[in-house]
Formats: sequence, structure tokens, C-alpha cells
Amino acid sequence: MPIQLDPRLSLVASFVRQGSVLADIGTDHAYLPAYLVETGRCPRAVASDLRPGPLENAKETVMQAGLADSIDTVLSDGLDALPALCADDVVLAGMGGILIAELLSRAAWLKTPAVRIIAQPMSHAEDVRFWFYENGFTIDREACVFDKHRGYVALAAHYSGEKTVITPALPYGGLLFGQRDPAALRFLERQKARLQKRRDALLKAGSDPAEAQRLTAVLEDFERRMYP
Ligand SMILES: C[S@@+](CC[C@H](N)C(=O)[O-])C[C@H]1O[C@@H](n2cnc3c(N)ncnc32)[C@H](O)[C@@H]1O
Repeated sequence: MPIQLDPRLSLVASFVRQGSVLADIGTDHAYLPAYLVETGRCPRAVASDLRPGPLENAKETVMQAGLADSIDTVLSDGLDALPALCADDVVLAGMGGILIAELLSRAAWLKTPAVRIIAQPMSHAEDVRFWFYENGFTIDREACVFDKHRGYVALAAHYSGEKTVITPALPYGGLLFGQRDPAALRFLERQKARLQKRRDALLKAGSDPAEAQRLTAVLEDFERRMYP
């Protein structure tokens, strides 16, 4: 039976370019590479994971799908064990944003304009955007999807060498700002509510006035960007 992806991984898959060699970091069951190779979007893929258990899951999927000639499975902490330029499109999905930013920072070869990075952070998307902006990457595309009331965001970026001017709210919304699609608006509203809740808790506790002030500036900028 062909691999079926859930809405979150379908969104990630839609960001992968036709004909690209894929590296899927933190692949677990390797559903994404198996789907992309099976459907002909990618001719080849590397599916890697930090832990032997998930990598066994990946091998099982690859074997069952009869894709062992096209998908390599590699045990690796982030991209550490992957050769430079082994892929055109590099996916880091289903992990926290802080971890994704750390894994990206250890792979210097990603600073190549031809390489597309596709990130799908489960939390702290602001850390991923901030890392891209700070390190000369341009975010080309962002979209979100809801599944069972939970929102997911995916971003695609490439190295351009350009530094982005980072306004207070930009890392919290990125290219979602200005989108009128209902999923993006819902995602941003939730992000704003989380920021407000954190700021209000800090104000009430009086524990970290500098952070409360920073969050107030983020919220003001957020409002301007969301409803220009
Ligand atoms: C929740 S699963 C996500 C699987 C798949 N990418 C997805 O989006 O559905 C997270 C996977 O990341 C792997 N992982 C965590 N830290 C990692 C690291 N430093 N390097 C590579 N993989 C890692 C875990 O072992 C786990 O299999």
C-alpha cells in the first residue's frame, strides 16, 4: 500500500522540490522520504536519525516499500555524519525549534545557495527564524496547517548571504505575517495569545521586568504586522 502522509507531513512534502535529492534529519519511520521517492518527487534520499530504534523503524519502512536502492538510512546526530552537499533539500521536521537551530548551526555546508532547508518546528519556531535571519539565510516560504486542532508551521529557506533587519515580532511570525489564509491567521492569533499570557504573567509576578518590556515591544510590533 502506498505511504499516506498526515496533514503536517503533507505540508512539509509540498515544500520539497521536484527532482531534488533529499536528506530527512530525525526521520523516525522515514515516511517522508519513502513517500517522496515512491511518488517520484525525489530520485534518492538519505533518512537519518540520532537513535537506533527510530532508524530501525526507517529501515523497516524502506524495506517494506521496496526502496532500499534509493533511500540510505544513516545513524547521525543532526547532519554530523552526513557528507557535505549530499542533498539538495534538507528537512528537519517534528523536532523543537531550539534543537533544529542547533543542528543547522553545526553543518557549515548548508550555507550554499542551491541547498533548500525545510524546517517544521514543533515549538519555538522563533528560534529557527532567528537563526536563519542571523546567519544570512532568506526564508522563501512559510505555511501552516491544522490537524485535530493543533497548528503546525513549515518554513523553507536558502543561503543568500543577506542579513535581515529583525524587528521585535519578526521571528514570531516571519512570512506568516501578511498572509490572509485562515490557517495562518489562526496560527498567528494563537502565537499572540501565548506571548500575551507570558508577558502578563511576568507583569503580575514582577519577576523579570526586562523580559516583560521586551514582550510588550514584540506584541506591539506583532499587532502592526498582523493587521497592517
Ligand atoms: C517526533 S520524531 C519526528 C519524525 C519525523 N521527522 C516527523 O516529522 O514525523 C523526532 C525524531 O527526531 C529524532 N532526533 C532527535 N534528536 C535528534 C538529533 N540530534 N539528530 C537526529 N535526529 C534526532 C528522534 O530520534 C525522533 O526519531
